[in-house]
Amino acid sequence: MTTHSATAIAHPNIAFIKYWGNLDHDARLPANGSLSMNLAGLETRTTVTFDPGLPADQLSVNGERLSGPKLARVSRLLDNVRRMADLETFADVHSENNFPAGAGIASSSSAFAALGLAASAAAGLQLDEQELSRLARTGSGSAARSIPPGFVELLAGESHAESYAHSIAPPEHWDLSDCIAVVSAEHKAVGSTQGHQLAETSPLQPARVADAPRRLELCRQAVLKRDFQTFAEVVEHDCQLMHAIMMTSQPPLIYWQPATLAIIQAVRAWREDSLPVCYTIDAGPNVHVLCPRQHRQTVEGKLREIPGVAQVLVAGVGGGARLA
Ligand code: PMV
Repeated sequence: MTTHSATAIAHPNIAFIKYWGNLDHDARLPANGSLSMNLAGLETRTTVTFDPGLPADQLSVNGERLSGPKLARVSRLLDNVRRMADLETFADVHSENNFPAGAGIASSSSAFAALGLAASAAAGLQLDEQELSRLARTGSGSAARSIPPGFVELLAGESHAESYAHSIAPPEHWDLSDCIAVVSAEHKAVGSTQGHQLAETSPLQPARVADAPRRLELCRQAVLKRDFQTFAEVVEHDCQLMHAIMMTSQPPLIYWQPATLAIIQAVRAWREDSLPVCYTIDAGPNVHVLCPRQHRQTVEGKLREIPGVAQVLVAGVGGGARLA
């Protein structure tokens, strides 16, 4: 009986234009296209071992054995790999994040990108970037964007084949920094899988989705031209639109805390004062504050002075997922 093992590393990403809501929940086909950058320095490292001696898949994350829905979600991706590789063996999955477990940084993007790459390599498959991106998407939509390097767009195709991510510019194209103001390290009450399902209960979602191609094009051009002012305006607008959907879903999802709003207002004031900076927020209370690298120390220092900011993590633009 032989075991087959592989280890992969992937960075989480932060979306400038957000994915929120699915066309097809089961296949995780996103309702709208999205655009992000990978976060250098933050990473998930995952080892997958297919072992004929195992009676079932098993999972450990940061040294803790997990079961229930978390293991079931991992097994679903492994089932896709087993189907592709014509394999029936169960797998042992070990995953570690190098960013603080309690920092409240969404790790599903890096987690499912690293899992997809490690599992497919351990199964003997040689998938290209598009195939890996589709596979990662079946675990978590945003994970599709952690496969290619740098600045990455996820296409909202109408089928599994048409919905994958590709790089629009390499990491060195634009030296941006993400200063992540951690307001709360608590685990979010309603995760994004459930959130995507609630999106369609907001009467505002069709309008947000219909306008997404325009915002994507504005953001894509702003990134390609390194036009920070246009970038800042469209990134903040897109973030507000997603949170408007969340807040008007039934039941509503209100992720912000008082410090979240304090940071939003501070960032807007700093930009009016000529500091090139803007914010975006995922499905949680923490605020990602983006700026050109030369301003990151100033931004980091200012964020630390805001009451309620527990910690600031700083990341640059990261590469794609890779085998270790
Ligand atoms: O990949 P998921 O299912 O965790 O969804 C990601 C949702 C947001 O982080 C809020 C937006 C995005 O595009 O990353």
